[in-house]
Amino acid sequence: MTLHVRPATETDLPAIQALLSSASLPCADLASSHIDFLVADMGQRIVGVIGVEPMPPAGLLRSLAVSPDLRGTGLGKQMVSALEAHAARQGITGLTLLTETAAPFFMQLGYAPLAREHVVAAIAATAEFRSLCPAAATCLHKHIPLN
Ligand SMILES: CC(C)(COP(=O)(O)OP(=O)(O)OC[C@H]1O[C@@H](n2cnc3c(N)ncnc32)[C@H](O)[C@@H]1OP(=O)(O)O)[C@@H](O)C(=O)NCCC(=O)NCCS
Repeated sequence: MTLHVRPATETDLPAIQALLSSASLPCADLASSHIDFLVADMGQRIVGVIGVEPMPPAGLLRSLAVSPDLRGTGLGKQMVSALEAHAARQGITGLTLLTETAAPFFMQLGYAPLAREHVVAAIAATAEFRSLCPAAATCLHKHIPLN
């Protein structure tokens, strides 16, 4: 079956919310924060999601989830790569993220630990940083070369 990673539309929001909730990722600010989502579309259903809160030249990578039945097939890696290309096209040169469970996954992809006091102010002011993600979550960062 073909799988297509594409920008999300308004009608994808319920599927995005369902994927994020089932992966225990924050949903509380989906309507109030400016998030660009990409989705992995299998035709009948959405099987992956990833988002960025763009604040060029910075960006907050968030909301990465893959359907449980497709984990371990390379889709997570593909979603991150698509998001990095999408971010670079918007002039984002650095992506920051918080994760409780997937730090080793992101470190395989070139993300490195960043002390929270070194996070740029615009990212530190997001709802995810201020309140939605536990203080114990690992903060990671990657430099994104502009295309
Ligand atoms: C994290 C997640 C998106 C990875 O997606 P995936 O499609 O399974 O990842 P891939 O198949 O592309 O895996 C790529 C590599 O990362 C490894 N990996 C995947 N998830 C991992 C994790 N949580 N911790 C460590 N390594 C992980 C895989 O084993 C694979 O390694 P390999 O290339 O050496 O074989 C998926 O497990 C998920 O949806 N988890 C729940 C939500 C979550 O934790 N999101 C991240 C919060 S921002």
